[in-house]
Amino acid sequence: MDYAGVDGRRADGTAAGDEVVEPPAAFSDRAVASDPEIYEAFAEEGPEAWRRAADLLDWERPYETVLDDENPPFYQWFPDGRLNAAANCVDRHLDERRNQLAIRWFGKRGERRSYTYLDLHREVNALAAGLRDLGVEEDDVVTLYLPMVPELPIAMLACARIGAPHNVVFAGLSAEALATRIDAADSEYLVTCDGYYRREDAFNQKSKADNARLRAEADLSATVVVDRLGDALDVPLGDDEHEYEAVVAAHDGETVEPVARDATDLLFVMYTSGTTGRPKGVEHATGGYLAHVAWTTRNVLDVRPDDTYWCAADIGWITGHSYGVYGPLSVGTTSVLYEGSPDYPDRDRVWDLIERNAVSVFYTSPTAIRSFMKWGAEYPDAHDLSSIRLLGTVGESITSKAWRWYREHVGGGEAPIVDTWWQTETGAISLATLPGVTPMKPGKVGPPLPGIDARVVDEDGEPVEPGEPGYLTIAAPWPGMLRGLREGDERYRREYWLEGEDGWRYRTGDGATVDGDGYVTILGRVDDVINVRTHRFNTAELESAIVEADGVTEAAVVGDDDGRIVAYVTTRGDVDPDESLREAIGERLAHAVGDVARPDRIVFTPDLPKTRSGKIMRRLLEDIARGDEFGDVSALRNPEVVGEIESAVRKK
Ligand code: WTA
Repeated sequence: MDYAGVDGRRADGTAAGDEVVEPPAAFSDRAVASDPEIYEAFAEEGPEAWRRAADLLDWERPYETVLDDENPPFYQWFPDGRLNAAANCVDRHLDERRNQLAIRWFGKRGERRSYTYLDLHREVNALAAGLRDLGVEEDDVVTLYLPMVPELPIAMLACARIGAPHNVVFAGLSAEALATRIDAADSEYLVTCDGYYRREDAFNQKSKADNARLRAEADLSATVVVDRLGDALDVPLGDDEHEYEAVVAAHDGETVEPVARDATDLLFVMYTSGTTGRPKGVEHATGGYLAHVAWTTRNVLDVRPDDTYWCAADIGWITGHSYGVYGPLSVGTTSVLYEGSPDYPDRDRVWDLIERNAVSVFYTSPTAIRSFMKWGAEYPDAHDLSSIRLLGTVGESITSKAWRWYREHVGGGEAPIVDTWWQTETGAISLATLPGVTPMKPGKVGPPLPGIDARVVDEDGEPVEPGEPGYLTIAAPWPGMLRGLREGDERYRREYWLEGEDGWRYRTGDGATVDGDGYVTILGRVDDVINVRTHRFNTAELESAIVEADGVTEAAVVGDDDGRIVAYVTTRGDVDPDESLREAIGERLAHAVGDVARPDRIVFTPDLPKTRSGKIMRRLLEDIARGDEFGDVSALRNPEVVGEIESAVRKK
């Protein structure tokens, strides 16, 4: 990682206030975590403290060792324990709550479907038996390429049941991105669907899967296809392609013994953008991951079985894995699963769903909250949201203004908000307040969770003074941590770890400040990753797609304040940048990555600002896109270009 570039400016350009909001007494009285001693307890007990988390799970063979740290940074959590994640999310709830709803699904067309824990058990078992029948064995990686339909969590659990790691690829990614992930994960099995609705239109997902198949080097031995669209789309199936409904029907009523997995065995792989162009396959182990996720679902999100909980994130990304599937199901609650968009059929859709389901805990992103604010308070205000007990946010910094809006209009002015910091790699929430214990500071994430040794340090690894910018690092292992990268040990070590005099440090890639009370404020990434619309992209990945468009010579991609993608593009002298070139650039990105990567703005510029060593000054471009003040440009080789870029941006 390049340690240059942290300059102390907040990602959103505003300063976080130091207003302190105490946890409401009515909340604290009933909160899962209500004892302030918990911080001390973790500090005194060290890794052993995490038994609290592991003991929330059912173990097939109890663990004795909590942490094996003999061979850093290859840490092993609960290494001698054995368990099955699906049994923990489904089977163990059957005694107490077989008829309780596990999932309430709302489709794009107003359809709805509900699954009790018993229903879930039946379908997960049938699909697990079906996958086995198709040849899936323990440790075979199964790729899942599905939108937000119940079959996605069901397929994840069916894989977990038979010890087959899943590799979920976000449904909006392109055929090419899918092919890369199938190859990289060495996956021979795919579960996808015929298509899904985008607003009114039926969209063909299967044809993307077919194209990926043509490209993927790995030979898929079987594909299972969910019929999401019924008669709206007819997709012919090939020899080794099977209808999901038929597979499940053929095995309906069968039970498959959950495979006991070592706690350190792979539960899933999730590809995410890193510091280089190719996505990295982040591997999560079964025991530590599930323990950390279950513990934070209870202690940070305060979710209990009698809640109706809604994590609005797409299951195609880590938030949906941890807090849309494994977290809520492991604690035995009822979840809302929503396929549609927040503004269809109208801009009150989210509030309508909260009201009709009496949602008590709602977890979303600042990107979404910004849209809600823009659409106006009249939408939430027109609904009865009194069921809300707790609100959460994740994915990027939330401004204190958005924080207040969220609390006022969604939380009834009362509900605590947990601003949760974590990453695909950390697996579970790592920094956040404990809502019944820790005071909140609007606009600041909060202190590290008990047991998470996060530190903001300077280039030498020394803690920075309060308010000084530094690098967010984690100085001790934690249960939800990635167990490694699909690309191998060397890459894992190089990508994330620094060995210092006092041990190994995990580098988060985020810049941060910490205040005198230990509250962390995230400044944004210090590497080439951008977070836009809750998706994580590597700038090089996007830029290399753009320069493939005819006539383009160079490109630099940044995110702006509204989480939009802004692309600065230079063209060959003889090329007149026009609408068709814009189109072509959008197409290149949709093809290489997916529609989610289409830029919201393309700014044509004669040159890009570069340092004397030729490095593009992306931060300067970010400042320009955000309309922020920017500092000294004298380090540039071509300072004259800044004025031209500014006027190109303003011209619109
Ligand atoms: C950013 C999403 C500020 C951060 C769970 C991190 C945040 C990256 C917050 C990981 C937050 C996440 N405040 N920034 N509360 N939460 N981030 O892997 O830059 O998609 O490194 O995981 O999102 O993104 P990822």
